[in-house]
Amino acid sequence: MGSPCLTLFALLCLVVGTAARPFYPLPSKVADGERQPLQTSRPYNIAHRGSNGELPEETTAAYMRAIEEGADFIETDILSSKDGVLICFHDFTLDDTTDVAQHKEFADRERTYEVQGANTTGFFTVDFTLKELKSLRVRQRYPFRDQKYNGKFHIITFEEYISIALDATRVVGIYPEIKNPVFINEHVKWPNGKKFEDMFVETLKKYGYKGSYMSNEWKKQPAFIQSFAPTSLVYVSNLTDLPKIFLIDDITVPTQDTNQSYWEITSDGYFDFIKNYVVGIGPWKDTVVPVVNNYLQPPTDLVARAHAHDLQVHPYTYRNENLCLHFNFNQDPYQEYEFWIHKMGIDGLFTDFTGSLQKYQEWTSPLSSRDSSNETSLLHKIAVMVSPYERV
Ligand SMILES: *[C@@H]1O[C@H](CO)[C@@H](O)[C@H](O)[C@H]1NC(C)=O
Ligand SMILES: *[C@@H]1O[C@H](CO)[C@@H](O)[C@H](O)[C@H]1NC(C)=O
Ligand SMILES: *[C@@H]1O[C@H](CO)[C@@H](O)[C@H](O)[C@H]1NC(C)=O
Ligand SMILES: *[C@@H]1O[C@H](CO)[C@@H](O)[C@H](O)[C@H]1NC(C)=O
Repeated sequence: MGSPCLTLFALLCLVVGTAARPFYPLPSKVADGERQPLQTSRPYNIAHRGSNGELPEETTAAYMRAIEEGADFIETDILSSKDGVLICFHDFTLDDTTDVAQHKEFADRERTYEVQGANTTGFFTVDFTLKELKSLRVRQRYPFRDQKYNGKFHIITFEEYISIALDATRVVGIYPEIKNPVFINEHVKWPNGKKFEDMFVETLKKYGYKGSYMSNEWKKQPAFIQSFAPTSLVYVSNLTDLPKIFLIDDITVPTQDTNQSYWEITSDGYFDFIKNYVVGIGPWKDTVVPVVNNYLQPPTDLVARAHAHDLQVHPYTYRNENLCLHFNFNQDPYQEYEFWIHKMGIDGLFTDFTGSLQKYQEWTSPLSSRDSSNETSLLHKIAVMVSPYERV
């Protein structure tokens, strides 16, 4: 308790403060109905691991930047700590994007495990408690990107990530991946025989995520669940109506859990099966349009066939840097967006540079022109107003 004097002073400040400040809700407390809704008229801008082109991936800073830059969805990968806490982290080992190697106290933690058919050695997230993971710092994955923020941010949990989306002043969707589910279920056990997928869906439900694609519930808190593992997608479709996206890797990589080939899972027969569980596919972009000597080849029919099965297509990953752009695009990332959005007709893009995609979209198909106050709709309103008085 403070002294009575101080308390009175504080009270006065409060009264004066309240009188002086116009009353409006704090941005984070804006009711759902008042938030700017998710745009659904142009392909989704999916901030791949946040704005990881600028800031270390899957950190609070990367997600906040992505929201500021106009992301429709913030994307993440869900893994688990040793003590069963779901975290946002891309690799099952900590080696490439944290400072774990500098932590002497963890020197004996290196292990070799078989993951998806290959033996890998490193520091695995599943061998560290959440508290230990929180003592690490994240760094930029690629040497050609800004290293200034290395060591500044820590790993966040699935729940912390959800809070970032829910606290945004407009509706921002989430796009979490069920990452390496076979491996995680082998190494982490939860009470009452619950699986990784159960914990994943429970977390979403705890924060109110529910409803099928485009339902009112979904539009309030949009989410896509993604996975490379068909078994996980089929399993979670029993637990939640939330829309799911089936990720498809390079043509050389089989599915994570069922060992099916690229050709098998992109066949019409397979699309007929998987469309009962998912609303779309998320293919590696070079499998949609093959690349030889860094030049694009004629596109495959993957987009057309997915669309014919009423499946959306959200390819990954769009990266601005010269060394990531195919030569056809004249070293211009906007030309790459132009090609994929207008020629290929895709439905969403996983980008490392949300700000660039947002700028391209605002220049070429601004949302403001679809405002209800545009000329066409004004003329329509006038026509409706005068029609009762018109003679037939
Ligand atoms: C991984 O290493 C273990 C132990 O040395 C071995 O038994 C197993 O066959 C290896 N797996 C692969 C895929 O190489
Ligand atoms: C879905 O739930 C039903 C009823 O609980 C169960 O019979 C079925 O095996 C489940 N399917 C999957 C794929 O888990
Ligand atoms: C996966 O499929 C390939 C090709 O059909 C086969 O050679 C391989 O042994 C399979 N691997 C597993 C783990 O079943
Ligand atoms: C104007 O608004 C109408 C209805 O809201 C919409 O259908 C139309 O596409 C808009 N026009 C432009 C040029 O965006």
